[in-house]
Amino acid sequence: MQNYLTPNFSFAPMIPERALGSRVWDTEGREYIDLSGGIAVNALGHCHPDLVATLTEQSQKLWHISNIYTTQPAQELAKKLVENTFADKVFFCNSGAEANEAALKLARKYGHDHFGEHKTEIISCLNSFHGRTLFTVSVGGQPKYSKDYAPLPAGITHVPFNDVAALEAAVSDTTCLPPKNIFKPHAVYATNTEHC
Ligand SMILES: Cc1ncc(COP(=O)(O)O)c(C=O)c1O
Repeated sequence: MQNYLTPNFSFAPMIPERALGSRVWDTEGREYIDLSGGIAVNALGHCHPDLVATLTEQSQKLWHISNIYTTQPAQELAKKLVENTFADKVFFCNSGAEANEAALKLARKYGHDHFGEHKTEIISCLNSFHGRTLFTVSVGGQPKYSKDYAPLPAGITHVPFNDVAALEAAVSDTTCLPPKNIFKPHAVYATNTEHC
């Protein structure tokens, strides 16, 4: 197939055409079991009839509008998330990169608002991946994704994975976290590496 898309990704040699539940069929009619479930972030299965019916119904009422409006379905979903998670409020966005970008901005805003304008430093792992915006490729610490877009956002320090000593050495008065006496890098890092 002629590829008209920019070469951001190396596409798999098969082209998915339709799917149902955990099954996927390609353009050649070959059947697969989908073991990656939307990169594990929307592992809802494919084409569940309830989801298809809900999306079909909504698409016939109201599709896309500006962020200056809220809608009843958006508020209902946010309410469910607040009631069933740790969250007090919900920010909806369109991609993982946008969610991580928002999290990084929020960390800096929290640092500024609570501890001072100097609390800006982000510490991240070398060879991590957080998305493809300028901020998230910079935080990712993989020059192959960021070197062509310099100058990159400043105030980012990278440490190797699983190196608690390097993390502790990297934390300073400018890290956008609470002051050192109430921040325990070892505990935070140990918790985070469980999810890496
Ligand atoms: C760990 C991780 N973070 C962030 C992202 C970015 O998500 P998106 O492609 O939806 O922007 C990805 C995408 O693969 C990812 O694997």
